[in-house]
Amino acid sequence: MTGFRPAYPLRTERLELRPHRMDDLDDLYAFHSRPEVVRYTPWPVRDREETRVALEKKLSQGELTESGQWLVLAIELRESGTVIGEVLLKWESEIDRQGEIGFALHTAYQGKGLAAEAAREMLRVGFEELGLHRIVAVLDDRNDASARLLERLGMRREAHFIDALQFKGEWANEYVYALREDDWRDAD
Ligand SMILES: CC(C)(COP(=O)(O)OP(=O)(O)OC[C@H]1O[C@@H](n2cnc3c(N)ncnc32)[C@H](O)[C@@H]1OP(=O)(O)O)[C@@H](O)C(=O)NCCC(=O)NCCS
Repeated sequence: MTGFRPAYPLRTERLELRPHRMDDLDDLYAFHSRPEVVRYTPWPVRDREETRVALEKKLSQGELTESGQWLVLAIELRESGTVIGEVLLKWESEIDRQGEIGFALHTAYQGKGLAAEAAREMLRVGFEELGLHRIVAVLDDRNDASARLLERLGMRREAHFIDALQFKGEWANEYVYALREDDWRDAD
């Protein structure tokens, strides 16, 4: 594959998913700075400057040119134009057609089915456009909201690893959830 770039914006009922822009900084800072949002994410609470540095990296993550890379998209609420979160899809392996999904939403927009709407669209992109065979999600086993969301998406808990990593100063257990392309097709 020479490069993969979906036709942006990806549109769902209430959302537009698109590559980040530098003027997303205020919206991004609003959730990257919140301890409750980053509790189980790989990144720490960020100040404005740290958010700006993180945003600069995201600017080029609207396309994939080789396996190992992440597609990192802004989740924009159509009715207000606010960026309320981000959704990610990793192209893990070209030969085995494996991927990984991730997401984070500003607390004020959680509990409305919006993360599920964004994640479902990223699964569609992964299976139907990128041609993936299996997509996983890896999460801390204390992240109940994330596990509930993955189960709502029809993902299956495949593994529970104990003391799998040192996470923010303590040992953490990990769940791996997965969905295969057949499961995705059958759910239609
Ligand atoms: C994980 C995370 C994205 C889940 O967000 P969420 O808003 O709870 O997920 P959903 O979009 O699926 O919303 C579902 C909730 O909205 C409710 N809801 C309200 N209106 C709804 C609608 N129209 N459609 C679907 N669900 C709706 C559901 O009942 C459900 O509530 P429940 O979880 O209490 O049962 C969010 O908790 C988050 O950003 N956490 C911090 C970052 C993080 O940990 N990311 C994951 C790292 S692995």
